[in-house]
Amino acid sequence: MELKQPIISLEGIHYCYPGSRPILKDLEFNIFKGDRIGLVAPNGSGKTTLFHIIMGLLKPSSGKVNIFGKDRRTEQDFIDVRRRIGLLFQDADDQLFSPTVLEDVSFGPLNLGKSKEEAVAISIKTLEFLGLDDFEDRITYKLSGGEKRLVSLATILAMEPEILLLDEPGNALDSAMKSKLIDVLNSLNITYVLISHEFDFFSETTDQIFSMENGKILLDDEVYLHIHQHSHKVGKQPHEH
Ligand SMILES: Nc1ncnc2c1ncn2[C@@H]1O[C@H](COP(=O)(O)OP(=O)(O)O)[C@@H](O)[C@H]1O
Ligand SMILES: [Mg+2]
Repeated sequence: MELKQPIISLEGIHYCYPGSRPILKDLEFNIFKGDRIGLVAPNGSGKTTLFHIIMGLLKPSSGKVNIFGKDRRTEQDFIDVRRRIGLLFQDADDQLFSPTVLEDVSFGPLNLGKSKEEAVAISIKTLEFLGLDDFEDRITYKLSGGEKRLVSLATILAMEPEILLLDEPGNALDSAMKSKLIDVLNSLNITYVLISHEFDFFSETTDQIFSMENGKILLDDEVYLHIHQHSHKVGKQPHEH
């Protein structure tokens, strides 16, 4: 019987920003096709750093990054990774750079070699899927925080990624937008890892929860369902109701 191989495998990853303390220390993390993973840890734990290592935006000082069955080291190696994995940045202003929404969302498909007409059609369809009908001509910098967040997600989904890395996707979303995001994630049938601090959000969108401590990933094996006024998954992390 063939053993299931992870589609992302990180082994012995160390990372330290220049002049700072070590952030990731001998970190191990395997992600399998179909995983819907939640990642929760206090601010400064290295969650965003971890996503940036997977995308090749930061290079680990040591350790092995294997994605889609290939070791990834050079800038060239990560071109393929960035086409196939969509990263939603923690800050939407890092994601959006074009004057209009349509230009931002069609940028990815155009880069993948689609014609202008195809890219526009994909963009409009993706915006509609996210409940952003008629957003094409909106001026990006004038959008609300929540709208920027969903347009950022549109820029990624328009590239039809195989994996999503979502860095605090619920930030700045009002409750209607959050419900939309939950519906979208549940309808996608895609592998993803999402960072959040909200356990209610995890319980609706993820199957496993991991945490980070001392630069390592921990499986939050105390995840369980409990019942009080409502029921949801809860991990080791303190949380409020
Ligand atoms: N560019 C940087 N230069 C130096 N330190 C950084 C930089 N980016 C992040 N850090 C530090 O690295 C640590 C981990 O950051 P980050 O990965 O953003 O954590 P998280 O996403 O879990 O809040 C924090 O202490 C943060 O201040
Ligand atoms: Mg972060």
